[in-house]
Amino acid sequence: AAIEYGLDAPYTVEYHDSIGSTNDRARELAADGDRDVVVVADEQTGSRGRLDRSWVAPSGGIWASAVLQPSLPAAHVPLVTLAAGVAVVDACRSVGVEATLKWPNDVLVGDDTADSQRGGLKLAGILTEMEGEADRVSWLLVGIGLNANIDGDALPAGATSLREQVGDVDRRAVLQTTLESLSTLLDASETVLDRWREYSSTLGREVRVDTGREQITGRAVDVRFPGALVIDTDSGEEVVHAGDCEHLRPA
Ligand code: BTN
Repeated sequence: AAIEYGLDAPYTVEYHDSIGSTNDRARELAADGDRDVVVVADEQTGSRGRLDRSWVAPSGGIWASAVLQPSLPAAHVPLVTLAAGVAVVDACRSVGVEATLKWPNDVLVGDDTADSQRGGLKLAGILTEMEGEADRVSWLLVGIGLNANIDGDALPAGATSLREQVGDVDRRAVLQTTLESLSTLLDASETVLDRWREYSSTLGREVRVDTGREQITGRAVDVRFPGALVIDTDSGEEVVHAGDCEHLRPA
């Protein structure tokens, strides 16, 4: 069912019962100069995931895109993406779901490397987009897709929802917690990597990261500013800035 979102500061809300993609709408607002606004929808009909994948977004989820204007260089944007993952995990834990983060910011539940999400069931994903110069970001949008009050059979294989884990939640409260946490993290960006490490299910694991150009296999040992994964491989240490990460064996 459709719901009305009314959030407290720091963001104003533009709510849609149904929309193509909240990220696309947020882009329009960003281009018009709007900031500190979050586009929220009950359902999305054309939502996008990372790496040009589609994202299933039926009624009942938390589909939201926040338009931000952080005063940081473009090279630091990966830190915001990690912060968004931490914020979503904070919100999931506030309703009793022990979610973890797979690098860079997949929000997972459980630890079953045998299933299709290569490290757990996927509860939420984040798609960050930006525009700006190297030394300054003109706008940044953080798209958050959290499978909230959705039946398992409406989700893709390898996904789960808050409903499946703990029953239905107050979506407004969960989004409020997420955005408050994100805002706090962005105001104290020096805390982000430690908070991320605390929630990570990737560190200490054997992983394979597909960077688009090569596959790097080894043990994930740390995350490094502004958001790179440090991997111990047979041929030494590799630092990966972007890619698709797979957990190879159970922890
Ligand atoms: C991923 O691939 O893991 C990222 C998924 C991001 C989905 C969210 S839902 C709200 C926002 N609007 C979109 O079209 N995508 C993001």
